[in-house]
Amino acid sequence: MKRQEIKEILQSEAIGDTVKVNGWVRTKRESKNVNFINLNDGTVLDNLQIVADVNIFGNEILRKVNTGAALSVVGELVESQGQQNVELIAKEIEVIGEADPDKYPLQPKRHSLEFLREIAHLRYRTNTFSAIARVRHSMIFAVHKFFTEKGFFNIHTPIITSSDAEGAGEMFQVSTLDMENPPRKEDGSIDYSEDFFGKKTNLTVSGQLEGELAALALSKIYTFGPTFRAENSNTSRHLAEFWMIEPEMAFCDLNDNMDLAEEFLKYLINYALENCQTDLKFLSQRQQQEEKNKPQDQRSMELIEKLKFVADNDFVRLTYTEAISILQNSKPAQKGKFKYPVEGFGTDLQSEHERYLVEKHFKKPVILIDYPANIKAFYMKVNEDDKTVAAMDVLFPQIGEIIGGSQREERYDVLVEKMEAMDIPLEEMNWYLDTRRYGSVPHSGFGLGFERLITFVTGMTNIRDVIPFPRSPKNCEF
Ligand code: 4AD
Ligand code: MG
Repeated sequence: MKRQEIKEILQSEAIGDTVKVNGWVRTKRESKNVNFINLNDGTVLDNLQIVADVNIFGNEILRKVNTGAALSVVGELVESQGQQNVELIAKEIEVIGEADPDKYPLQPKRHSLEFLREIAHLRYRTNTFSAIARVRHSMIFAVHKFFTEKGFFNIHTPIITSSDAEGAGEMFQVSTLDMENPPRKEDGSIDYSEDFFGKKTNLTVSGQLEGELAALALSKIYTFGPTFRAENSNTSRHLAEFWMIEPEMAFCDLNDNMDLAEEFLKYLINYALENCQTDLKFLSQRQQQEEKNKPQDQRSMELIEKLKFVADNDFVRLTYTEAISILQNSKPAQKGKFKYPVEGFGTDLQSEHERYLVEKHFKKPVILIDYPANIKAFYMKVNEDDKTVAAMDVLFPQIGEIIGGSQREERYDVLVEKMEAMDIPLEEMNWYLDTRRYGSVPHSGFGLGFERLITFVTGMTNIRDVIPFPRSPKNCEF
């Protein structure tokens, strides 16, 4: 008999049908004559209740039916008074894989997120993490759908590279040299000409530079790939390995870029609202449960309400300079409440400042533009004031920066001057400069941190809970 998935069964509610289901036991409740088994196969949040008659199956089988065990059950679907409208009266039960109830780490109770992070290899088997996994999948699909509908082409940019796109020096080196005993040049420095690629290489921090090459031929492209940053930030917003979506458009200025970023984020959020209802409802309840001991004014907006709010309202757009003045005049600045003081033009905004603007001042997502040139990457277009660059950061409640992007410097001379000033090796970036030598055009793009998006959409508070196997300083399990 062919197996049916629980999602399909709960949707069809085909009373009277005989069906076969496979899944893992979430809970078992024993009464005198029957056992109630909650079975989950991950296709949907909800469990299917299996009713097993003790007289038919006996202790031989039922003692193996424990939380975590894998079962295959054939039975008849009947109407139910329980959580679902249908339940399954078991006719055959096969225990496919046992789970020792004394050793299985996931007990049928609420576990802390910290504990679940330690057993990340099993956390998919919880409601929270299976819900996040399904939402994450929907968002991956929606990203490709959005760009496909708009005529963008998906480009695979390299994961191993010899350039540092962001110029922040936060790279993981890739090498096959013997670290204990590397080949050395006469001056004692390591001889990378003997390394695998004949030069020093690292994992990519962004696919942008290669994306620009493609955009300057195909007009509109996007990348969606893994990104690696060896920044020593042990925060709830940073990962050492994360996924980034980077669209890049030729013949596109900063305004077009902002329009696209706003439309994109709203599209993704609406897609989640339409397609992930069951999981979002569950995640909303989870969040409210988690926050119920917090004082009223510190609780987050209800998840679905929050998502609708962002999808339905225009984002505020303002310059960095305007933001600095708002921040300097703010209550927390005047009472010395910011951990990092806002000194004035040139201050790099911290997440506390970004969140103040979004959560307290505007109460809406904010797009900040025109940042000081010296706190941003070399490739950003220099504005007419010669002090600022055509950068944009999209700031979200609870998250802070969710998107970073810019119009690119398309003028060869200006770019070269900037690169020299920032010590970017011109010779090694010759390929990049060629786009400015031949048929250069105004172009723009941005990067959306995928896990920051998922954190926002799921209402989770720690980015390590929205990627299956998080990598962060001193942590590379699994
Ligand atoms: O602002 P970033 O550094 O921009 C770039 O990398 C550009 N090359 C993008 C472009 O214009 N094509 O990073 C973009 C986004 C951030 O806004 C943030 O959402 C996310 O990537 N991000 C991280 N997410 C998780 N962990 C980290 N360590 C992250 N660093 C950046
Ligand atoms: Mg940034």
